Amino acid sequence: MRSDANIAGPMTDPVPGPRTESIGADVSRETPPPMDDTPIGRAAQLAVEALGRAGEGLPRPEQTRVMVVANQKGGVGKTTTTVNLAASLALHGARVLVVDLDPQGNASTALGIDHHADVPSIYDVLVESRPLSEVVQPVPDVEGLFCAPATIDLAGAEIELVSLVARESRLQRAIASYEQPLDYILIDCPPSLGLLTVNALVAGQEVLIPIQCEYYALEGLGQLLRNVDLVRGHLNPTLHVSTILLTMYDGRTRLASQVADEVRSHFGEEVLRTSIPRSVRISEAPSYGQTVLTYDPGSSGALSYLEAAREMALKGVGVKYEATHAHLGAQNDPNMVEGIQ
Ligand SMILES: Nc1ncnc2c1ncn2[C@@H]1O[C@H](COP(=O)(O)OP(=O)(O)OP(=O)(O)O)[C@@H](O)[C@H]1O
Ligand SMILES: [Mg+2]
Repeated sequence: MRSDANIAGPMTDPVPGPRTESIGADVSRETPPPMDDTPIGRAAQLAVEALGRAGEGLPRPEQTRVMVVANQKGGVGKTTTTVNLAASLALHGARVLVVDLDPQGNASTALGIDHHADVPSIYDVLVESRPLSEVVQPVPDVEGLFCAPATIDLAGAEIELVSLVARESRLQRAIASYEQPLDYILIDCPPSLGLLTVNALVAGQEVLIPIQCEYYALEGLGQLLRNVDLVRGHLNPTLHVSTILLTMYDGRTRLASQVADEVRSHFGEEVLRTSIPRSVRISEAPSYGQTVLTYDPGSSGALSYLEAAREMALKGVGVKYEATHAHLGAQNDPNMVEGIQ
């Protein structure tokens, strides 16, 4: 795994990909990512340009940022956020690995990655101690994006892990010995706080919590935050909640803005200014094995995830974020689902 600031140089990076001249807070020294040579990849690249920032590139983190996407509440947008942020970061020129840690395998599906029962998967890594490099697959159509898929076997892992040595830190060990250079690892957690999620929390430095803008949004979060504290206290001193992302935001409802206000007053700085609108395009993309970035690059859903990725990348290196478009919210989205009254 990447661990120093200078490995972006061509001499030390064996895998071709968009390069930076140096790493740091100076955005202008970045080289823009090359045009992808598949039609879908090209379309997605155009979406990056639609934001008017493609030439700018984005600062790459000094060390691999390992981000745990967690919320034990089901259906709040964990998987959607993982795959679309990962694709956005890759389109911005970063090298990104998605680790699918949910037996449902939704992230693998959404990235168009084969994950039938015989495919080497994250189960083999956790339970059979197989090297991560043997299960990682490149994601079609998005250069620089990779996935460690989940198969149905993973459903048994919660139980099988219990009797294994170092059961909480098996993912952390696998990531530590993964030698490909990466800027980001995004781990998609299942909707529970069992051993799979604990493995993610031990492996990561940052927790990213997607919060759906609806009633009861904050319910249950206390338990997740207590688990983060426990893991920080006993197993992983660097772990912290770095990022909150508001998802499925419907700007036409008072409820959504009330929830957003409540989350912002509760968490403050951690909440990204960019929120993700409720959008039909976002929910359609997985059934085509695609992220919204390749499925409909010009949609408000795609633009919001690109913008959230940009905000996250700038925040990570301490560069002040300024919104590309003032209204990347749900208000003007023609694909938006009917508002909840
Ligand atoms: N911004 C959005 N607009 C419209 N639909 C969305 C949006 N984000 C997510 N969805 C849809 O909401 C559902 C739940 O999203 P997702 O699967 O990402 O949640 P999850 O937290 O990963 O769920 P689980 O807890 O089951 O893993 C999916 O059908 C998804 O397509
Ligand atoms: Mg999910």
